Amino acid sequence: MLPVMAGDSDSGSDLRSVGPIRFVGAHHMSVRMDKNRVVIFDTTLRDGEQSPGASMNLEEKVRIALLLEEMGVDVIEAGFPIASNGDFDAVQAVAARVRTATVAGLARATKGDIDRCAEAIKPAPRGRIHTFLSTSPLHMKFKLQMEPDKVLEKVSESIRYARNLVDDVEWSAEDGSRTEHDFLCRCVEAAIAAGARTINIPDTVGYAVPDEYAALIAMLFNRVPNIDRAIVSVHCHNDLGLAVANSLAAVQAGARQIECTVNGLGERAGNAAMEEIVMALRTRADRLPYSCGVRTELITRASRLVSGITGFAVQPNKAIVGRNAFAHESGIHQDGVLKHAQTYEIMTPDSVGLVRSNLVMGKHSGRAAFKAKLREMGYELDDGAVEDAFVRFKDLADRKKEVFDEDIVALVDDSVLRDNVRIRLKALEILCGNKNNPPTAGLELEDDGVVAACTASGDGPVDATFKAIKQLFPHEARLLLYQVHAVTQGTDAQAEVTVKLDEDGKTVDGQGADTDTLVASARAYVHALNKLLVKRQKTAPAALSA
Ligand code: KIV
Ligand code: ZN
Repeated sequence: MLPVMAGDSDSGSDLRSVGPIRFVGAHHMSVRMDKNRVVIFDTTLRDGEQSPGASMNLEEKVRIALLLEEMGVDVIEAGFPIASNGDFDAVQAVAARVRTATVAGLARATKGDIDRCAEAIKPAPRGRIHTFLSTSPLHMKFKLQMEPDKVLEKVSESIRYARNLVDDVEWSAEDGSRTEHDFLCRCVEAAIAAGARTINIPDTVGYAVPDEYAALIAMLFNRVPNIDRAIVSVHCHNDLGLAVANSLAAVQAGARQIECTVNGLGERAGNAAMEEIVMALRTRADRLPYSCGVRTELITRASRLVSGITGFAVQPNKAIVGRNAFAHESGIHQDGVLKHAQTYEIMTPDSVGLVRSNLVMGKHSGRAAFKAKLREMGYELDDGAVEDAFVRFKDLADRKKEVFDEDIVALVDDSVLRDNVRIRLKALEILCGNKNNPPTAGLELEDDGVVAACTASGDGPVDATFKAIKQLFPHEARLLLYQVHAVTQGTDAQAEVTVKLDEDGKTVDGQGADTDTLVASARAYVHALNKLLVKRQKTAPAALSA
């Protein structure tokens, strides 16, 4: 029998298996949930932002949050309010804009953290305090330097304190997957008795394997007497590449909330990728009869928005959202797909919002066609960003024979990155050189509205360009990475450049795209500097220790 294609049904959820219904405050509008409904908790803005180099400013966080809400994500973890004023403001801004999803903030098990979190989420119609404490022997001994009984006491105390401020409290047993079972059961029971409605068991270091993790969740259901008064949640890191597999195995064992991020962004190797989880539920509803409320057709848009803002490119062969995920290169596959798409496609591109557009763009295309094209590709930009992208598109179309969809993606992402920035590249001229006359860069930069110019020579044109930028905008950041890749084929292809900078342990990635590799390089460097300026305003994020 042929599998049912994701995209053939409108949700992929299996509602035949509706069982007893319970009320769950976690989900927006306190909907009545069927027993197979999985709450999707997105932590792109919190755990995702903890990826070295993936900083986002307030306005960018709000944009991502609004798209997550539109997608139907149930809970949006917007940040860690105590970490910095910037984090606090961003959580508050998200809480003020998001109307239907629950907005969560993270807090350690201290009154200061919890108060700050409660304050930040106050504007949200549905706010959640997500408080956590380590429970594994290793963490308790070396990180917390606390005896287990003290930890247990603190779990109850912190949750009771949070419950006095909000109804919806989630508690996480940090390093839960490496916690002794007896102690974990005692903590979970105490957390629920103190008022936690969601109990999260993170695989903080990505150490678990699926059957072991599922058994841990099943063990909690078997041994914790009040477990039916809470939703059990999972939060898996991807250090062994098992985050999605572990999350799904846990759902099969009874977990009903999955914490995940767009593109799998997150600490170290990242978190479970939301798009993979949601598409696995949709595509394999036969084996995974669980539903969630996410509109999968918005996945591609969300992936592009997050990678554009963070500067974390999606690897081409990444499941669901990589640019090769639906591409068929080999003759045998192409032949098969042409005869019957399901020979090699288990999901339709449409089901993840990947529309191959029929609008061919070139130098004669006008503003209206360009706007229609953007809409078709899933972009919704404000007028300023559309105008900026259009001017750059015309310029590109003048220089390049064919403008491909990939070119437009690179160009729009590049324009979006330059919204609300302090430093802008105005002009760049390069004079090639040799041993006796080194290459020279003539550069114009705008800093806070003031334009300045200079020339600098260097060991090659890229070096000259970066030296000129440093001359006009002095800084101590070290260049950690310089990487170029061609967006399409041909010598007139746009170059997409990534630059990684480090300043006092703070790393940022910058991106730039242009048919001129040196202009793309300068744009990437300037983008990284702008991100560094945002980072400088933040104090070091409070280490995740209680
Ligand atoms: O990985 C982890 O344990 C966390 C907790 C704070 C939930 O991110
Ligand atoms: Zn985490």
